Amino acid sequence: MSAIPNDYVANLEPYEPGRPIPDVAREHGLDPSQIAKLASNENPLGASPRALQAIRDSLAHTHLYPDGAGLALRDAIAQTHGLTRDHVVLGCGSNEIIEFCYHAYTQPGKGRVLASAYAFAVYGLMARLFNVPFEEVPDRDFQHDLAGFAARLQNDVRLVFLASPNNPTGTRIPNAELTAFVEKFPAGPLLVIDEAYYEFISEPPPTIQWVKQGRPIVVLRTFSKAQGLAGLRIGYGLAHPDIAAVLQKSRQPFNTSAPAQAAALASLADQEHVRTTLALTYAGRDRLHSFLKKLGLRFIPGTANFVMVEVGDGDAVFLALQKRGLIVRPLRSYRLPTWIRISIGTPEQMARLEEILPQIIPTQK
Ligand SMILES: Cc1ncc(COP(=O)(O)O)c(C=O)c1O
Repeated sequence: MSAIPNDYVANLEPYEPGRPIPDVAREHGLDPSQIAKLASNENPLGASPRALQAIRDSLAHTHLYPDGAGLALRDAIAQTHGLTRDHVVLGCGSNEIIEFCYHAYTQPGKGRVLASAYAFAVYGLMARLFNVPFEEVPDRDFQHDLAGFAARLQNDVRLVFLASPNNPTGTRIPNAELTAFVEKFPAGPLLVIDEAYYEFISEPPPTIQWVKQGRPIVVLRTFSKAQGLAGLRIGYGLAHPDIAAVLQKSRQPFNTSAPAQAAALASLADQEHVRTTLALTYAGRDRLHSFLKKLGLRFIPGTANFVMVEVGDGDAVFLALQKRGLIVRPLRSYRLPTWIRISIGTPEQMARLEEILPQIIPTQK
């Protein structure tokens, strides 16, 4: 091969997503409709019917480019939070906002990026893609250690990622700790507070207030989880207009599609669907916690729509469940080979898990 790629891109370990249903069905000769995907923290109820109608309506205009600035959606998001459209940046999933932060705030080979050990994989993946030194702050029993972050905040730090709730651990940062950290955050780096699972937590921290105060923060939110629009890829960042303007400059002109914008707009108007989703999630999560306790497995109580469980050999349990039509997430790629992550599904899906998991665990441990 004569074309020579950047070695840091060529050597990249790709992100390992949850396995798609059709793939698993083919491999194991299963009926796709009988497979439960509990692997990617998706909404088991699907999208709001209003969002689905908005997608169908938008298809009539498929020959036209979308509104590149996403004005209607940015205005609606801004209104929900008491902000202005200039605070809102849309992304192809909130993942894309993470990428914008690297574009706008880092340079190859320079400075450092901080994130917690066992934090969402994309922070580190992007650091490698942009060739920026990445430093993991050791956890305290699967919790972010903010004192550890503070101790590493020298002036070469460019980005700091905090995820609350964090994926895959499912833990959140206590409000008092987060507030103290934000109040002492120095000038220079950008603090990214990833709230992809924000809707699932009670007594959320005042992150929007911090954005309003003009702190050096971007708050990440997504329509992929509580709103059930993961397949459309739409998320957003909220930041002071000066920060948002820089992030806007790093995006492609048409980074979010017209159906995605339309569906997100309709989702914002259907809070009932979010309430139903939350009720199902809390009931399913309580049920899963009790079941795991009864089974005698160690788990980290989830604060979002998934739970991390220690099962012995995570890959083996993942494969055994998959053969029976249940897709969960093995966590070897997170350097947690004895753990799996289970997303909260419908009551029927959770009942199947309760039936099948005890058949597998005794032979795998
Ligand atoms: C903590 C966290 N942040 C961000 C994302 C990205 O979600 P999306 O790009 O679908 O908005 C995820 C997805 O799993 C996540 O778990």
